[in-house]
Amino acid sequence: MKILLGIPGGIAAYKAADLARLLTKRGHTVRCVLTEAGSRFITPLTLASLTGEPCFGANPDMNEWRPSPVIEHIELARWGDLVAIVPATADSLGKTANGLANDLLSTILLATTAPVLWAPAMNTAMWEHPAVQANVARLKSFGHAMVEPVEGILACGEEGAGKLADIERIADAMRALGSVRQPSLMGKRVLVTAGPTREDLDPVRILTNRSTGSMGIEIARSLRDVGAIVHLVLGGDLAAPYGIETLRARTAAQMMSACAELWPRMDGCIAAAAVADQRPETIAGEKVKKGDGPENLVLVRTPDILLNLGAQKREGQWLLGFAAESEHHIDHAHGKLMKKKLDAVFVNDISNGKAFGDQENTLTPVVAQGPQAALGPLPKDRLAQALVGWWAERLGLQIENQK
Ligand code: CTP
Repeated sequence: MKILLGIPGGIAAYKAADLARLLTKRGHTVRCVLTEAGSRFITPLTLASLTGEPCFGANPDMNEWRPSPVIEHIELARWGDLVAIVPATADSLGKTANGLANDLLSTILLATTAPVLWAPAMNTAMWEHPAVQANVARLKSFGHAMVEPVEGILACGEEGAGKLADIERIADAMRALGSVRQPSLMGKRVLVTAGPTREDLDPVRILTNRSTGSMGIEIARSLRDVGAIVHLVLGGDLAAPYGIETLRARTAAQMMSACAELWPRMDGCIAAAAVADQRPETIAGEKVKKGDGPENLVLVRTPDILLNLGAQKREGQWLLGFAAESEHHIDHAHGKLMKKKLDAVFVNDISNGKAFGDQENTLTPVVAQGPQAALGPLPKDRLAQALVGWWAERLGLQIENQK
């Protein structure tokens, strides 16, 4: 992607340099545009060195408006696939919200037709000021995206909302805005389950598993990127991704009730959660003391979420699940497909310790007609993209055939 990174004058400008480097490392072409105030916090040389591209706008050594044979703001506005302003200051938000343009960055912001993303950072009182909030609301009404600031200790020493969001989150938002949409999934509501569940034994002990939820989160991201409206039901501790409605669930029962509530309104579901199949029959109110003899734990089954969603599946809804198999992979996966009324099962071969902790993974989609060409080996983010791409294409063909 060709990214124009606008950097106005705020102390968080130094983080924009880090962001420019992160984006460049991920293969994007980044051109920075500094405002006059921005150039007092960070230099064009820093940004040009990090991105390998020229830095535009204010340059204290050359004055802001350099003689140029091209109409710079129009050229740059046409060049960028995305314009991001990091850190967005009260001044930069206010200017664009009100159509003002008196330097290179603000003129680009009026001239561009590309998606625009703001990542504000400022003192809490400034951020909460009605004028700033009104400007933010106005920019959103233009279709501009915001990565809201977070709470934390600010450069001014105060604690509260106004800290620049994590640069990984800002990069994630850019990815969401700049991706190619898939017609078969565009605007569709998709439920994704991800992460481990945790079943309490007593106030300090839990039954859980080693899943982190990263594969399910990557699937949710990939669905978001192709234009789906994603509802994520998430176990574990990983952060919720940008632009995805996320409900936290701790136990299998909580995950079940969140999914049951959402499912009737969904077009489809991908169940990637590692749901604990058992829970302790009782949860001790106090910490259980160790005894002398052998000790038994009585376990009972938790609800099978996917099975329940399959049973409630209505005409037109689709349902995809996973199967971790160590033998007779395809037969077992096919059995799950039938039993849970799934449209596809992604089989993970876990024989000989494969798949756990591996950097790269392979999934074989199994549908009613049999196994399909394997996806991978790929790292989780790319595997999730391949999975969503595979399903988008298959769904597209099904829609075509129904016409
Ligand atoms: N699943 C679920 N609710 C459960 C258990 C599993 O929604 N209580 C979903 C998982 O998210 C996954 C699929 O069902 O998509 C896995 O099916 P499962 O029958 O549990 O297969 P395995 O985990 O492979 O276990 P086993 O072969 O022992 O049945």
